[in-house]
Amino acid sequence: MAERMRVAVVGSGGREHALATVLGRTADVLVTPGNPGIPGSVVTDPESLGPDVVDLVVVGPEAPLVDGLADRLRAGGQRVVGPGADGARLEGSKAWMKELFVDAGIPTARHQAFTDVEPALGFLDTLGDLFVIKTDGLAAGKGVVVTESRREAADTIREYLSGAAFGDAGRRIVIEEGLTGPELSVFALSDGRRAVPMGAARDHKRIGDGDTGPNTGGMGAFSPVPGCGDDLVEAIMDTAIEPTVAALAARGIDYRGFLFCGLMLTPEGPKVLEYNVRFGDPEAQVVLPRFTGDLAALLAAAADGNLGGATTSFDDGAAVTVVCAAPGYPTAPVLGTPITGLADAAAVDGVQVFCAGVAADPDVPGGLVTAGGRVLAVTGQGPDVATARRRAYEAVGHVVFDGMQVRTDIALSGL
Ligand code: AMP
Ligand code: GLY
Repeated sequence: MAERMRVAVVGSGGREHALATVLGRTADVLVTPGNPGIPGSVVTDPESLGPDVVDLVVVGPEAPLVDGLADRLRAGGQRVVGPGADGARLEGSKAWMKELFVDAGIPTARHQAFTDVEPALGFLDTLGDLFVIKTDGLAAGKGVVVTESRREAADTIREYLSGAAFGDAGRRIVIEEGLTGPELSVFALSDGRRAVPMGAARDHKRIGDGDTGPNTGGMGAFSPVPGCGDDLVEAIMDTAIEPTVAALAARGIDYRGFLFCGLMLTPEGPKVLEYNVRFGDPEAQVVLPRFTGDLAALLAAAADGNLGGATTSFDDGAAVTVVCAAPGYPTAPVLGTPITGLADAAAVDGVQVFCAGVAADPDVPGGLVTAGGRVLAVTGQGPDVATARRRAYEAVGHVVFDGMQVRTDIALSGL
C-alpha cells in the first residue's frame, strides 16, 4: 500500500482546523502556525515547507497568497493548493477582478473604478438608490460599504481615497450598483484548466441576530442551502467559474487552488459579487465535513494540474456551524479570557468543535484562553438542517467564556 501523504496546512483559524480534520482522514497533516486547539499544530516558517518536509501544501488565508507564498514554494519544487500572486489578484484587487468579469462575460453588478473624488461622486448619480463602495485592495473583509444614503456614500469615497480609512488599499475604489437578493457562497477547485465543484453554503456576516450590526468575517453558516442544489451549482460552474478559469488561463495565469465565488441571487439571476482565492471561513466548517472522498488526493491532483476526470460529492445530510466570538468583536475583541466546556461540546452527537482564536494558558482550567475575535466554530451535522442546527446549539450551550457573542438565528432561514 502507498504511504500516507504528508500535507501541511498554512493558517491558524477554524477553516484550517476543518481542512486539517478532513485531510486527516487519508493523510498525515501538520498545521502551521495553527493554534493550541488544532492537533498537529507546529510553528514553523511556511517558506520552509519544501518537498523534503511534506508532499503538499494547502494555503488557507488570502494574505500569504497575495504575498506570493505559493510562487516561492512552487519554485522550490513543492505542490501547492493556492494561486500564485498573479491569480491572487482576483481577491487582492477588486478593480482587476471586475475587468476580468467584463472580459469573460460573467454576470456582475454595474461598476467603475476610481482614484479621484470628483469623477467618483459623478458616477454615484448614475446609480439607483443603493450605493456600494469597495476598497480596491485587501481590507480584512471590512472595506465594503452598502448604503442608501448618498451622503454616506460620498463621505466613504472621500475617506477611502484619502487613505485615511484603509491606507493604500483604499486609494483606489470600486463603486457599484447595489443588488438585492439572498447571497450564496459557491466553492470550486481549479487545476489551472478545469474546475470541480466544492460545495455551497450560506454564511451570516453581521454580528447580530436578524442581520443587524456591523459586518464580521462570518458568524455562522449552513449547507446545503434550500433552493440552491446541484442544478444551480452546475449553472454557476458554467456561467461563472469555468469562464473565470478560462479568462485567467488566457492571461497566462495557471490558477491551482480554491475559488470562492460570492453571489447574489437577484431577480435577474445569479450575479457574482466577488471571488476569494481561498476557502470561506466559516463556510469550510460546514462544507468540508460533508465532503465524501479523499480530499488529500483530490487537492494533490489539482496542485499537479491534473484534475482529469475528477468528480466531487457531498453527503446527503446537512451541517450548521455557529461561531462563538469574543466580546468586543468585530471592533476590539477582548482576549485572554479562559474558555471551558469544549470537551462537553465535542461530545454531543454529530458535533465537531473547530478552534480559531484560542491560545494556551496552563494556569486556567481547560488550558485555553481567547486569542482572537472568532474563537470557535461549533459544527453540528445531521440528516437535515433542523437536526444539525439543534446539535450545534446544544454543543454551544456547553461552551463558556466571559462575554461570549453567539447569534441565535444561524440557519433559521435554512429550515
Ligand atoms: P464583497 O467583499 O465584495 O463580497 O462584499 C461584502 C458584502 O457586501 C457582500 O457579501 C454583500 O453582502 C455586500 N455587497 C457587495 N457588493 C454588493 C452589491 N453590488 N450590492 C449589494 N450588496 C453588495
Ligand atoms: N465567510 C466569508 C469569508 O470567508 O470571507
